[in-house]
Amino acid sequence: MADARRKLDLAPETGPVGSARAHDSAPKHVAGEALYIDDIAAPEGLLHAYLGTSTIAHGKLLSLDLDAVRAAPGVVAVLTAADIPGANDISSTHLHDEPVFATERILFHGQPLFAVVAGTREQARHAATLAKADHAEEAPQIDIAAARAAGGRLVTEPLKLERGDVAAAMAASPRRLKGTMAIGGQEHFYLEGQVALAIPGEDEDMAVLVSTQHPSEVQHMVAAVLGIGSHAVTVEVRRMGGGFGGKETQANLFACVAALCARKLRRPVKLRPDRDDDMAITGKRHDFVCDYEIGFDEEGRIHAVDAVYAARCGWNADLSGPVTDRALFHMDNCYFYPAVRARSEPLFTNTCSNTAFRGFGGPQGMVGAERFIEEVAYATGLDPLEVRRRNLYGGAGRDLTPYHQRVEDNIAGDVIAELERRCDYQARKAAIREANATSPVVKRGIALTPVKFGISFTATWFNQAGALVHVYTDGTVALNHGGTEMGQGLYIKVAQVVAHAFGIGLDQVKITATTTGKVPNTSATAASSGSDLNGMAALDACETIKKRLAEFAAKHWQARPEEVAFLPGRVKVGAREIAFKDVIAAAYMARVQLSATGFYATPNIHWDRKAGRGHPFYYFAYGAAAAEVAIDTLTGEYKVERVDILHDCGQSLNPAIDKGQIEGGFVQGMGWLTTEELVWDRKGRLLTHAPSTYKIPVASDRPRIFNVHLLENAPNREPTIHRSKAVGEPPLMLAISVLQALSDAVASVGDHRICPRLDAPATPERVLDAVERVRAEAGR
Ligand code: MTE
Ligand code: MOS
Repeated sequence: MADARRKLDLAPETGPVGSARAHDSAPKHVAGEALYIDDIAAPEGLLHAYLGTSTIAHGKLLSLDLDAVRAAPGVVAVLTAADIPGANDISSTHLHDEPVFATERILFHGQPLFAVVAGTREQARHAATLAKADHAEEAPQIDIAAARAAGGRLVTEPLKLERGDVAAAMAASPRRLKGTMAIGGQEHFYLEGQVALAIPGEDEDMAVLVSTQHPSEVQHMVAAVLGIGSHAVTVEVRRMGGGFGGKETQANLFACVAALCARKLRRPVKLRPDRDDDMAITGKRHDFVCDYEIGFDEEGRIHAVDAVYAARCGWNADLSGPVTDRALFHMDNCYFYPAVRARSEPLFTNTCSNTAFRGFGGPQGMVGAERFIEEVAYATGLDPLEVRRRNLYGGAGRDLTPYHQRVEDNIAGDVIAELERRCDYQARKAAIREANATSPVVKRGIALTPVKFGISFTATWFNQAGALVHVYTDGTVALNHGGTEMGQGLYIKVAQVVAHAFGIGLDQVKITATTTGKVPNTSATAASSGSDLNGMAALDACETIKKRLAEFAAKHWQARPEEVAFLPGRVKVGAREIAFKDVIAAAYMARVQLSATGFYATPNIHWDRKAGRGHPFYYFAYGAAAAEVAIDTLTGEYKVERVDILHDCGQSLNPAIDKGQIEGGFVQGMGWLTTEELVWDRKGRLLTHAPSTYKIPVASDRPRIFNVHLLENAPNREPTIHRSKAVGEPPLMLAISVLQALSDAVASVGDHRICPRLDAPATPERVLDAVERVRAEAGR
C-alpha cells in the first residue's frame, strides 16, 4: 500500500492518471450488483439452449437419434449441423478445423453434436442427455506421449528459432547435460462461466450479449455461421467475470449456437453450460514436455541450449500456433544463450482444444529456462541465484534473443539486486540452511526468480485499437473503446486517461460497454496490451476534441491556440480561465463537433516467422519474486510461508489496480505450478471437471507473508500511454519462484548435490516422489 499511497499524494494538477483508484465496479462486484449476462432481466419470450455432446473421444459418428430429445418436456427445437444456414465452422485460424457441430468425425469427448432449445434451462439440460448416438469408436490419442507414439501429427506449422552454431557450441562446451521437464496445463476457472444471450431483431439483425474477450471475432463468426454480413450482427460485452484467455476464442461456440437457435426460432435464446460441461468442452492452458540439452562451463555460464517444446493442443489448432510460438519466445527468460535452437511441436490430441491462458505459452517456456538454470547450478555446485546472475542479458554481444531482437531495456539485474536486498534473501537463505540441518521432517526452501515478458501481439496486425469519445453539452463524457473488461481494471485505467486529458473528474467520465456497433474491427483484449492500445486510442480521440476546442476557444475569447491549456476543471485561454463545462456549452453553440474517434497502432514492431527473426515486442516488462516454502518430507505437503515481489509497471497508470493484478497473477501462477492438476482417463474423459477434483488456490493458500512492491522511478523508455507498462500477464510468471523454492526444499534432503527435477504441477504427491528420488540417489 505504501506505493499506492505515495501516488495518491500527486498534486491535483496531475489529475487522475497515476492515482490509486478502486476498480470502477468494485462496490458492485462485492454487493452482487454488477450485472453479468445471466443477471440481465430475461427478454420477452426467452428460450434456453443446451449443448448435446459426444460421449466418446475419437471415432466415426454413424447415426444420431434425437427423437427422445425432441419428445422431452418443454423442448421447442433441436438443431444440428444441418440447421446451419452459413458455415459450420468457427475456427479462429484459416485451417477450418473447428465445426460448430460434428457431423462425421468425433475428435474429443465433449464435442458438441447438437443443441436443444426448451422453455427452461433445466428442461434443455435434461433433454440434451437423451440422444442416442451410434459410433465406430477408434483409439484416442490423449497425451503428448501417445500423440508422439502415433506419429506426432501437428495441428499447425511448428516454429524454429535458431541463432549461432548450436552443434559446434554444444560440442565445444566444457560440460553438457540432457533432461526432460513436464509442465502441466491449467483450467481457467473464470468465476462467470461461458454464457451468451442472442436477441434477434428486424430483418437479419442479431444482437449478442456474450462473455468474450474478443467481441469482433464473435461478430464475424456469428455472421459467417448465420450466412449474413457482419453489419447485421452487434456484439456487446459490459464485463466478464474473468476471462484469463479462456474467452479469447472459446466464447465463439456459445455465441454462435445461441444466435443460431435465436435465428431459427425468432426468439431470444440464452446458452449457459454448467461448470462441469464448461470444463469438459472448453480448452485450457497447454501442457508441455520440454526436452533439452544444455552446454555450460564450471563457472555456471551457459554456452548452448537445444530444446524441443511439445504441447498438447487438442483437436484443432485454435490459438495453439501463437501459444507454442510464445513458449519459444520466452525460453530465454532473462538469460543470454550464446548459441541456441528451440523448436515447437504443436501436437494434435483427442482432447479439448487448448487455448490462450494468461502468459499464452510464455510461462511454459520460462519454467523451462529456470529448469536449465537449476540444472547448471546443481551440476556446478553454484547457488542458483548466482547462476541466474551470471547468465543475464548484458551489454553488446550479450543482448540478442533467440529471435534476434536486441534486449535494449534490460533491468533484470537491477530488479533482482533490489529485491535481494529488500527481502534479505542471503541472510534468510543461510538461516534456512541452518534450520534444515536440525529439522528432520520439515524442510524449508527459498528461491528468487526474475521475469522478462515481451509486450505486443506476435501477430503484428492485432496491435491496433480504436476508441470513441463523446462530450455532451453539460461537459460530461461518454467513453467507448475496443477493449473488454474482465476484472483487470482496463475500463478504469482508460477512463483515468480520458479524465486526465480533459482535466475533469473521473465521475464526469461514463464508462460504456464494449460494442462492435461503436468501435469496429477490434483485437481481442489479450497479450496484456489492453491499456497500452486502448489508452492510446482514447487519448487520440481526446486530443482531436481538445484541438477543436482550443481552436474554438482561441477564436472566441481572443487568444492564440497555443495559449489555451486544459487545467483541472477549467480551461485557460490567454489570461482568462473558463470552467470546462462552459467552454463545452459555448463550443456547442458555435457548432464545434464534440465527438471523435481515436486510433492507435503500436510502432516499431515486425516479425518474420519463416526466418525466425524480427522485433516482435515493443518492449519488455520485468519483475522478480522471492518465495520461501516449507515441505513435509513424509507427506509431500507444503506451505508457502513468504513471498516478496518487486514488479515493473513502468509509470503505473493506477498502482492499486496494478498491485491487484500482481497479487492475482502471482496466486493464479502458484495454483498452476502447485495444486492445479488436470487428469484425463484413457478414454479421453476429463476426470477433473469440477472444483471437487480440481484444486485452485483459496484464501488460505495465500503466502503467509506477501510483500508486493511496484518498481519506482521506472518509466517505460518507449512512449507508451503515460510511460506505463502492461501488467496483466507478466506477474503470473513470478510464481515460478514457488516451484523453485519447493525444489530447493526437496534438494536439501540430498545436501543440494542432486537436481530434484521437480515437474509441474508440484503437487504433494510429486514433491514426495522427488524427496524419495533425491534421497535414494544421495544414498541416504
Ligand atoms: N485479471 C482479471 N481480474 N481477470 C482476467 O480475466 N485476464 C488476464 C489479465 N488479468 C484477467 C486479468 C489476461 S490473460 C490478460 S491478457 C490481461 O488481463 C488482459 O487485460 P489487459 O490487456 O487490459 O491487461
Ligand atoms: Mo491473455 S492469455 O492474452 O487473454
